[in-house]
Amino acid sequence: MLAVRWMGPRKLSVDEVPDPKIEQPTDAIIRVTATGICGSDLHLYDHGATLAMKPGDIIGHEPMGVVEEVGSQVSHIAPGDTVVVPFNISCGGCFMCTRGLYSQCEETQNLGGRKGASLFGYTHLYGGVPGGQAQYLRVPMAHFGPIRVDESVPELAAMLLSDVLPTSWQAVKYADVEPGSTVAIFGLGPIGQMSSRIALHHGAARVIGVDNVAERLQMAARYGVEPLDATQFDSPGDVVAAIEQLTKGRGADSVIDAVGMDAAGSAPDRVLQTLKMQPDRLIGLREALGSVRRGGTVSVIGVYSMWFPNFPIGDLFDKQVTLRWGQANVRRWTADILEVLRNGDPWDAAGLVTNQAPLQSAPQMYEAFKRKENGVVKVVLRP
Ligand SMILES: NC(=O)c1ccc[n+]([C@@H]2O[C@H](COP(=O)([O-])OP(=O)(O)OC[C@H]3O[C@@H](n4cnc5c(N)ncnc54)[C@H](O)[C@@H]3O)[C@@H](O)[C@H]2O)c1
Ligand SMILES: [Zn+2]
Ligand SMILES: [Zn+2]
Repeated sequence: MLAVRWMGPRKLSVDEVPDPKIEQPTDAIIRVTATGICGSDLHLYDHGATLAMKPGDIIGHEPMGVVEEVGSQVSHIAPGDTVVVPFNISCGGCFMCTRGLYSQCEETQNLGGRKGASLFGYTHLYGGVPGGQAQYLRVPMAHFGPIRVDESVPELAAMLLSDVLPTSWQAVKYADVEPGSTVAIFGLGPIGQMSSRIALHHGAARVIGVDNVAERLQMAARYGVEPLDATQFDSPGDVVAAIEQLTKGRGADSVIDAVGMDAAGSAPDRVLQTLKMQPDRLIGLREALGSVRRGGTVSVIGVYSMWFPNFPIGDLFDKQVTLRWGQANVRRWTADILEVLRNGDPWDAAGLVTNQAPLQSAPQMYEAFKRKENGVVKVVLRP
């Protein structure tokens, strides 16, 4: 089969590799029909070497497809079914899973490197499991994970159940969004876009969306978001001041960080980068933390995978901020989301997908998504 393999920093290749086989009675094999590229894949693309990737690893964690074969202990799906596969691999029955903490599953967690549940295509820290940007995928824990979908849900919206929709839903739930409240969302990539629409669906009166890409600000505005263009500010403090001004000096009730550790820099950070010094990866996060009102909640859904200095714990203490974060516990939210999607995809989730391309063009599509060129927001590969 063909698969997208990480070969080194910013180096991918699409190669012929052996087809996967059933290895455990709880496995399934699916023929992948649609598979997303995620902002999290961009972290691997750039820093895979420091994140325990090995050349030749198959990447991707947003697959949907048709079941080809199931192991003897898999009964809720059968060959021929169309399924979407959650990005975290969880057993459904352990201490963590029974509490809805699927991204901490005790059957697949990776305690050697002090990490949670295994993830498809996401480094040897998270299990080194071959990923879903491939023609076929072995799905471990398939007695629990895969979700059967039918024509009542638009195909691309169904694919987004693997990651984008449950992740965005969790971002909103963890942000304690209340009817009538003001929510600020940093980062208007796929996660920020859908978090905005879901926050409005949960009754937020206002969503202020911050990004530095014009097309992404425009897309958010079409769905009722007040866009705030970060390129107009020289210092991160100015973004915080702008949000204060928009909220009568109080700050936002809830804030979502949908940027993560690859935040684009402020003017001082750009100087650091030019001098080839370590960029300040917490820029987006600190703006998010600065923009929340006293007693408000910040939900960090953007990924941070290492230890970082410059974390403003004193400010958070003084402001009595509630902070929640983590990988999405996908299966905890999918039934609720499916119910919404079956009622006609009111968020236009399928419309988030701006680009579809054959699997073979993965290297070019990663680069386009990374550069945010020509209005690219969400890319789906077709194996
Ligand atoms: N927690 C989870 O389970 C989970 C799941 C999926 C994705 N993620 C993470 O969510 C984040 C967003 O993912 P995505 O797919 O939307 O990717 P993305 O990279 O397209 O989105 C990031 C957005 O942030 C914007 N941005 C960069 N610097 C900024 C700054 N300083 N201020 C404001 N905006 C800034 C970028 O222009 C971009 O639009 C990533 O970190 C990704 O790893 C987390
Ligand atoms: Zn992802
Ligand atoms: Zn479990």
